[in-house]
Amino acid sequence: MRKNIVAGNWKMNKNLQEGLELAKGLNEALEGKTPNCDVIIGTPFIHLASVVDAIDTNKIGVAAENCADKASGAYTGEVSAEMVASTGAKYVILGHSERRAYYHETPEILKEKVLLALANGLTPIFCIGEVLEEREAGKHFDVVKSQIEGSLFNLAAQDFGKIILAYEPVWAIGTGKTATAEQAQEMHAFIRKTLADKYGKEVADNCSILYGGSCKPSNAKELFANPDVDGGLIGGAALEVDSFMGIINAF
Ligand code: G3P
Repeated sequence: MRKNIVAGNWKMNKNLQEGLELAKGLNEALEGKTPNCDVIIGTPFIHLASVVDAIDTNKIGVAAENCADKASGAYTGEVSAEMVASTGAKYVILGHSERRAYYHETPEILKEKVLLALANGLTPIFCIGEVLEEREAGKHFDVVKSQIEGSLFNLAAQDFGKIILAYEPVWAIGTGKTATAEQAQEMHAFIRKTLADKYGKEVADNCSILYGGSCKPSNAKELFANPDVDGGLIGGAALEVDSFMGIINAF
């Protein structure tokens, strides 16, 4: 089901107390308000259960930032999709460029993570995006298409319908160098056509495709005004209530 969505990705930030304070602050800021988008916060594992207990989960969804590619067992340090779901979180961010780059997550690994997330009732927020060299070489469309095909095109149409996509040009993440609205719309339209070619127009038109990469209150309105941009996946600006609310209010 296609929706406007603003999702935060806290990444590896906020200790237990700080995370609870941020979640409660956002919860208070949304009290009595009806934003024109769904609001999700993606937090480190340590926050999931306490944040779920502290907020109105009818107004704010909670996402993990990863899950294991195994269901359970002797995988020290890993957190399974079932464990994430047991906290009350309903979403999981998968395939973020930082996990692909630093933790060598391949399309095959991510395919398994997506299947386990779906099997445990979690909605994947699946990240795709090219690095600067790939864009400068004119390969950005091929890269993004390959990322989608490599981890998601094994899904039947009804399961693909449970996926949220997030296009995050890696060169825009944390750099302050946001993609232009035209660049975002061009890639989002390409992504939607890629989905339509595989699953048909109805599935493609019902997929929420978020933009991520230096999205701020100052540029969110222009980005979200594009027909194929359904919201944002927000890093730095999600770490403060006011800036995150400024993006939510861009709808
Ligand atoms: O997942 C969202 C993130 O990669 C974007 O980070 O700080 O550029 O908004 P930022």
